[in-house]
Amino acid sequence: MSKRIEFAEYGGPEVLRWAEDLLAEPGHGQIRVRNELIGVNPIDWKMTAGHFGDTLTLPGVPGWASTGTVDAVGEGVNDFSVGDAVIAGARGGSYRELLIIDARLVAHRPPTVSTEQAAGLPSSGVAGYSLIHHLGITDADTLLVHGAAGSVGSAAVQIAIARGARVIGTASPENHDYLRSIGAIPIYYKNGLVEAVKATGIITASADAVGGQRSVQAAAELLPSPSRAVTAWGDEFSYAAGIPWVEHPADELERTVELAATGELIVRIAQTLPLVEAATAFTLSMTAHAPGKILLRV
Ligand SMILES: NC(=O)c1ccc[n+]([C@@H]2O[C@H](COP(=O)([O-])OP(=O)(O)OC[C@H]3O[C@@H](n4cnc5c(N)ncnc54)[C@H](OP(=O)(O)O)[C@@H]3O)[C@@H](O)[C@H]2O)c1
Repeated sequence: MSKRIEFAEYGGPEVLRWAEDLLAEPGHGQIRVRNELIGVNPIDWKMTAGHFGDTLTLPGVPGWASTGTVDAVGEGVNDFSVGDAVIAGARGGSYRELLIIDARLVAHRPPTVSTEQAAGLPSSGVAGYSLIHHLGITDADTLLVHGAAGSVGSAAVQIAIARGARVIGTASPENHDYLRSIGAIPIYYKNGLVEAVKATGIITASADAVGGQRSVQAAAELLPSPSRAVTAWGDEFSYAAGIPWVEHPADELERTVELAATGELIVRIAQTLPLVEAATAFTLSMTAHAPGKILLRV
């Protein structure tokens, strides 16, 4: 029997439970992945808490990111074979030993990408890629990244730098050395953010990997138009200011995996816990200050 983490009611980490999972066969266009590592993302605990409305069929299973090997292949799937190493960007449901998933949401894992790196690419890595793709960042840009030391923000920083852009990143002081190590100019976000950014020169674009009012106000004061700003977390402030929620290109997972394979994108890993300790992983992620990606080992 296979196991999974599930929740039978909406709530915090306390509603997660370790449960039996029925072993099913992949249907047409699907593959079954034997998960090795799962990446924890804020959307996992947001969906479990019912932030997107009580629209899930319960019990629900969290999880948008995992890596493992193909265990079974359904009809109509030609790109994957049993034993292939893969990266799976599920739309919920990855906190389990055996994951059945639409093959279109899966990429091959190149030999140069470790399982730890791979599990950090779906959701946060691809969001970082999509922010930079959305803004069309080039070597003519100076980009401001809010939440630059987080999983989304640090991916955006590295991808922008690989394109030749100059990058200013906001972070807590304890993350400033990390930001310098990936090529960004660090600034603190709490006091005098706009003045601190202005002191570094003119910015041409803004990518927000936090959300909230501060980054929206900064965009209004620092950019000539909201069209040069984008957010990974749309809320009432960004909507009111006309700042779009990032659009995700269909090939975002493939492109992000390519950047990881060439070493242009390196995921910072904070901690790896056993899958059965998913509630602890939720609690760490909910601080919004974990020093990198939290992983769950199956
Ligand atoms: N649109 C998408 O496809 C997509 C995909 C993934 C994630 N997201 C969203 O993107 C956001 C970030 O996700 P993540 O995985 O990067 O999370 P994370 O790794 O936990 O990073 C959170 C970041 O937020 C910063 N932060 C926390 N509180 C802050 C505050 N009060 N003011 C300014 N910065 C603050 C932290 O900076 P310090 O620790 O340096 O203080 C940290 O860099 C979440 O809202 C998530 O839901 C969207």
